[in-house]
Amino acid sequence: MKIAIFNGSPRKQNTAAMVDAFCEGAKSAGHEVEVFHVGRMNIAGCKGCEYCHTKGEGRCIQKDDFDKLLPAYKEADIIVFASPIYYFGMTAQMEAAIQRAYCIGKPRKAKKAVLLLSMGSSGYRSAVAQFEEYMDYVKIENAGIITAAGSENMSEEKLSEIRKLAKNI
Ligand SMILES: Cc1cc2nc3c(=O)[nH]c(=O)nc-3n(C[C@H](O)[C@H](O)[C@H](O)COP(=O)(O)O)c2cc1C
Repeated sequence: MKIAIFNGSPRKQNTAAMVDAFCEGAKSAGHEVEVFHVGRMNIAGCKGCEYCHTKGEGRCIQKDDFDKLLPAYKEADIIVFASPIYYFGMTAQMEAAIQRAYCIGKPRKAKKAVLLLSMGSSGYRSAVAQFEEYMDYVKIENAGIITAAGSENMSEEKLSEIRKLAKNI
């Protein structure tokens, strides 16, 4: 299976450790994995201009790093959304990446998705609710949600939980 991992963190720390663990597990099961460093990309918010649904025929009028994610949205069998919690949601970069996929409506091939969240202490419920509603809307199976708070970040226990999920996906 082709797995696309969107890492919404601008840093290479806690979320990156979750992403690395997921990669290890998925690769050990023979999956093809590609990581996209969404948190370090320049992706503007959706303008709501509807160009994509009219003259654009599925193409966004804005030209930026979202173009790098589009093939993954179209071709991945499994999408992993990994992000730190910033003020009770995912990072702005990740939110922009999700909302810009409005141009294609629904990831074309994806059958499953996973949510990985890192945080200092708490405040992840709205990010989880958003993911669950999004998966219902696009009719993609929620294949698992793993959160790491405070000292759980980078802990061997949490990373092995992630490896296991990825291996068995
Ligand atoms: C702007 C900002 C907002 C944050 N908001 C929250 C929050 O609402 N709840 C929380 O538990 N941690 C919050 N944090 C802490 C991060 O979620 C936490 O440090 C996370 O592990 C960072 O992941 P990273 O190492 O991948 O960047 C915030 C951090 C920043 C920089």
